[in-house]
Amino acid sequence: MNIYREISELQKELLEINQKSSSVGFVPTMGALHQGHLALIEKAKQENDFVICSIFVNRIQFNNIEDYEKYPQTENKDIELLKEKNCDIIFIPTEKEIFPNIDNFFFNFENLDKVMEGKFRQGHFSGVVKVVKCFFEIINPDRAYFGEKDFQQLTIIKEFAKQNFPTIEIIACSTVREFDGLAMSSRNVRLTEEERKVAPFIYKTLKRVKEKKINETVNDIKQWVIKEIDSQQFMSLEYFEISSSLTLQPIEKWEDSKNIVACIAVFVGNVRLIDNIIIEN
Ligand code: PAF
Repeated sequence: MNIYREISELQKELLEINQKSSSVGFVPTMGALHQGHLALIEKAKQENDFVICSIFVNRIQFNNIEDYEKYPQTENKDIELLKEKNCDIIFIPTEKEIFPNIDNFFFNFENLDKVMEGKFRQGHFSGVVKVVKCFFEIINPDRAYFGEKDFQQLTIIKEFAKQNFPTIEIIACSTVREFDGLAMSSRNVRLTEEERKVAPFIYKTLKRVKEKKINETVNDIKQWVIKEIDSQQFMSLEYFEISSSLTLQPIEKWEDSKNIVACIAVFVGNVRLIDNIIIEN
């Protein structure tokens, strides 16, 4: 496994890989790796000759400086985990290496970023798309892997790639959960013991939403979720939406869309967690 911190060094190896016509799978991460990331690496290993994982905490996608500063950094452990998964290349660039390669690219999100994460985290998706564009240009992979936990990000990246990098296939991977249903996230380590105990309530609520769909209206369920989450100790709901999983626009009635996703963002103490469940596909 080779570790590169400079674009030019990475590209030397990529040139050799390209000369052999080998396929390249790319897993972009911000480090603090958990089983969710490792599942992306595993899938990428199955589908490609070479797998590259990047670790870069992308400051420009954080709307909250405290969230950025507290973002866990566990480089040595990450490298060990990637070695165990036989990842072929790790790319760990500095800001000095990446930022000069980020241009003032403007992506027209249409309405995809007007809701949920985009509404509550101003500038977040613009920062994500800029860094992903930069990595796609450097690596030009055949496939890139993203988790369904960040459902809105995945939808936006699919659209972005379709328009700007049509040769790169975007592969979605299912959310990996802890034994009690909590979606794996690098932010989970910031929960206190008591907060960690209540956090699985988020996914439990989402599962109940899916059951309730049979005989309750969209609006009734929304009101129910607001009450449920806010009645829990340590929890405060930022948003809960029932939306088309294609356009991400909220629906008012079940008949409004055939593809439905329920998405949620909750503060558990100071830690902001997101999750989602597919209601209909
Ligand atoms: O999902 C993430 O970890 C980040 O948003 C990504 C895709 C690595 C871009 O910084």
